[in-house]
Amino acid sequence: MLRVGVVGTGMIGQDHIRRMTTVLAGVEVAAVTDVDAETAKRVAEGLPGAVVHGTGEELIADPGVDAVVVCSWGPTHEQYVLASIAAGKPVFCEKPLATTEGACRRIVEAEVAHGSRLVQVGYMRRYDEAYRALKAVVDSGRIGAPLMMHCAHRNASVPAHYEKEMAITDTAVHEIDMVRWMFGEEITATRVLVPRRSRNGGALQDPLILVLETASGAIVDVEISVNIRYGYDIRGEVVGEEGTAALGELTPVTLRASRQLVSPIPADWRERFRRAYDVELQEWVDSIAGGGRPVGPSAWDGYAAAVVSDASVAALRGGSRVEVTLMPRPDLYADAA
Ligand SMILES: NC(=O)c1ccc[n+]([C@@H]2O[C@H](COP(=O)([O-])OP(=O)(O)OC[C@H]3O[C@@H](n4cnc5c(N)ncnc54)[C@H](O)[C@@H]3O)[C@@H](O)[C@H]2O)c1
Repeated sequence: MLRVGVVGTGMIGQDHIRRMTTVLAGVEVAAVTDVDAETAKRVAEGLPGAVVHGTGEELIADPGVDAVVVCSWGPTHEQYVLASIAAGKPVFCEKPLATTEGACRRIVEAEVAHGSRLVQVGYMRRYDEAYRALKAVVDSGRIGAPLMMHCAHRNASVPAHYEKEMAITDTAVHEIDMVRWMFGEEITATRVLVPRRSRNGGALQDPLILVLETASGAIVDVEISVNIRYGYDIRGEVVGEEGTAALGELTPVTLRASRQLVSPIPADWRERFRRAYDVELQEWVDSIAGGGRPVGPSAWDGYAAAVVSDASVAALRGGSRVEVTLMPRPDLYADAA
């Protein structure tokens, strides 16, 4: 049984704890911590035998913790991922790996110095059944070489604290990782187009269109709409030389009534990607059980996504095309995108 310690018992921390304790196999939650001690205590009350630690560092050092799941706020990820690497413990870090390029680079360098992979980043699209099926078609060669991809990332609404650049750093960053994985190559340049503003977005510039270029010259457009009211809608279509392949409709039931065809749309990302999170964490547990290494999105993937995200923010601010420059990829990540 893998004994996991969870740093950060907020929304996704509690959801991952529920997942690890009621859905997944081969894992138990042995310890929790949160800067909000009351929340950590309350969450631990539902976990027989779990220890509540005063700090993330104490939790990581606990000999009763085999592996760490980091679900605290983004700016705190670096310290806990670095502490886990220093302790030689596998660490699953919710996205983003860290909030600055420099912090991601320090994590990559620490893991390379350690000499083997310990870090996995929570980019769960790679575990979604529909995205996996789409990638399998692309990889099969059935549509020829992929030339373009059209994506849409639509949220019904976003919280009050959501700011303009979060459309890239928080929302489109999932497409940034997905595109690197789907095309199996790095993103080399980025641009942001700014359409007429939706009245639903208040002061936000909503929507945006991100245009990404890959190393081989493929072009991907990503519509980001975060106040579209009608539901949470994730779309993706790859255009190849001889065909196209798109994410299908996901609902198990379509209704035909009153001269209408009705197919439900998820309310939010929790509903849309619930199963992807289950598969993501189960595969992580299975990969590291018995001393194995994680095989999911790596620290390099977290670093590359951060650099493309920063370049896209610069493109949004400056209004022009921005090239993406990555540091040389260490051999440890040779099989990465
Ligand atoms: N993969 C996904 O789709 C996805 C979805 C939601 C959230 N996330 C990521 O998960 C992380 C948490 O998001 P959330 O929505 O659960 O936020 P949240 O605010 O609900 O929870 C974060 C928790 O971390 C705690 N915390 C903050 N600083 C801490 C520290 N230094 N040490 C310990 N605990 C600390 C807070 O008190 C809070 O309880 C973010 O990085 C977010 O981007 C990823």
